[in-house]
Amino acid sequence: MQISIKSVQGPEQQRSPCLIIGVHAKGGLRGAAKIIDSASGGVLSRLQKRGDLSGDWATTLLLPTLDGIAAERVLLVGLGHGAPVGENDYRKLIQTVLGALIEQKLDEAHWLLNDITVLARDKSWQLTQLAMAATLREYRYTETLSKPKAPLSLRKLHIDDDNSAGGRNAIARGIAIGRGMNLTRRLGDLPGNICTPAFLAKEARALSRKHAKLHANVLEEKAMRELGMGALLSVAAGSEQPAKLIVIEYRGGKRGAAPQVLVGKGITFDSGGISIKPGPKMDEMKFDMCGAASVFGTLSAVAELKLPINVVGIIAASENLPSGTATKPGDVVTSMSGQTIEILNTDAEGRLVLCDALTYAGRFRPAAVIDIATLTGACVVALGKHASGLFSNQDEFAGQLLDAGREIGDRAWQLPLWDDYQKQLDSNFADMANIGGPAGGSITAACFLARFARDYRWAHLDIAGTAWDEGGAKGATGRPVGLLTQYLIGYAQ
Ligand code: BES
Ligand code: MN
Ligand code: ZN
Repeated sequence: MQISIKSVQGPEQQRSPCLIIGVHAKGGLRGAAKIIDSASGGVLSRLQKRGDLSGDWATTLLLPTLDGIAAERVLLVGLGHGAPVGENDYRKLIQTVLGALIEQKLDEAHWLLNDITVLARDKSWQLTQLAMAATLREYRYTETLSKPKAPLSLRKLHIDDDNSAGGRNAIARGIAIGRGMNLTRRLGDLPGNICTPAFLAKEARALSRKHAKLHANVLEEKAMRELGMGALLSVAAGSEQPAKLIVIEYRGGKRGAAPQVLVGKGITFDSGGISIKPGPKMDEMKFDMCGAASVFGTLSAVAELKLPINVVGIIAASENLPSGTATKPGDVVTSMSGQTIEILNTDAEGRLVLCDALTYAGRFRPAAVIDIATLTGACVVALGKHASGLFSNQDEFAGQLLDAGREIGDRAWQLPLWDDYQKQLDSNFADMANIGGPAGGSITAACFLARFARDYRWAHLDIAGTAWDEGGAKGATGRPVGLLTQYLIGYAQ
């Protein structure tokens, strides 16, 4: 979709398949509505008088034809009493308007809703939110359908505002984040028989070919064995598909400037392994690579925005399957860090692939490391589907990530990482066990990872609840690409 910004001089003269005009609930018609009303001989006033135009927040009324104006249609949108609104009110309004345009199969529209005030957010924020929401509407999953879905009808959205660098940047951010999320959604939605570790490696090479500043490198099992990645390889032991450690570097900053490192859990299917999962909803474990997918989406957004920083994406990709060669409960493995792990449950595999990737991340002398993982069912129990779980060994860093999530509308919530929880990982036969019992399952998983992230500033995002939706809208959400990209935009400034 093309999203452009330009001041509309005289809305009654603006040619367009559809003008989007605001109507208030109190105080009469204002701005563009007032002009359109008089140009059309008072149609809007009559509708208001009759009670057909309440002006209540986010209500819509499409006028399919209106004499006296150049546009073919007018979509009237209720703006309430004109008082500042909350972020969620604004997002609801965007979704309602986009929904109405799409339902009418309009291919082009002019957005003239430019006198809305959102509490504690500026104009740029509104533009980013609008561009992001419109871009997300473009997503179609078609890859394994015999009949392709029709593409989005809406192809051009013009926003009435002064064409300043600030406005254009705000729109560019929204588009880049939306596209990054759509890439993440596509990788997440692909089934496990297509989206294998080798497929992710191929996608990494494809993404790096699209942007000059992205470079991909894939480590095969042989290289991982030489590095001593016994934890990661123990997860791949039961699978016919070889594991891949995928490294994508974005070089947008100064040579030698410490990079931000993103580490993604890329389990392309998690059966649980020998500790096999129950049948119901096991299909959803194709989404167990959504952390990895969010690394792809974020790197794509960062490259599109040409951020002047260095970022490294590390993806630990493997299947987790049972077989005669699979790792068994009670097995002890040695991680790249030298620490030994007793695998009490082969279904706690995410932390096993991540711990070696975290050790590997240290080689980049990172400014900070963030890992992203669909790590624990316990996180879904604790926070539901609205917030990602956030853990960090540095509170100020955690605060920056929480702020970024709040700003873009992709929220996280911090959980404790206190030493008190560490003893739940004690083992008689290794330096640690890979599970810490049922109490505080997300926290003990994070405590496990923390033991491999002692050398740098680190945060862990548990996206088990936020990475995909269930039910009718089943599919990957593209989270937390918004949070991560917003954080990196802030870091780049
Ligand atoms: N990928 C799962 C976590 C998960 C479960 C994500 C449900 C989303 C929905 C992870 O590998 C896993 O199986 N975790 C176990 C850990 C347990 C064995 C300590 C879990 O959460 O049950
Ligand atoms: Mn598992
Ligand atoms: Zn898993």
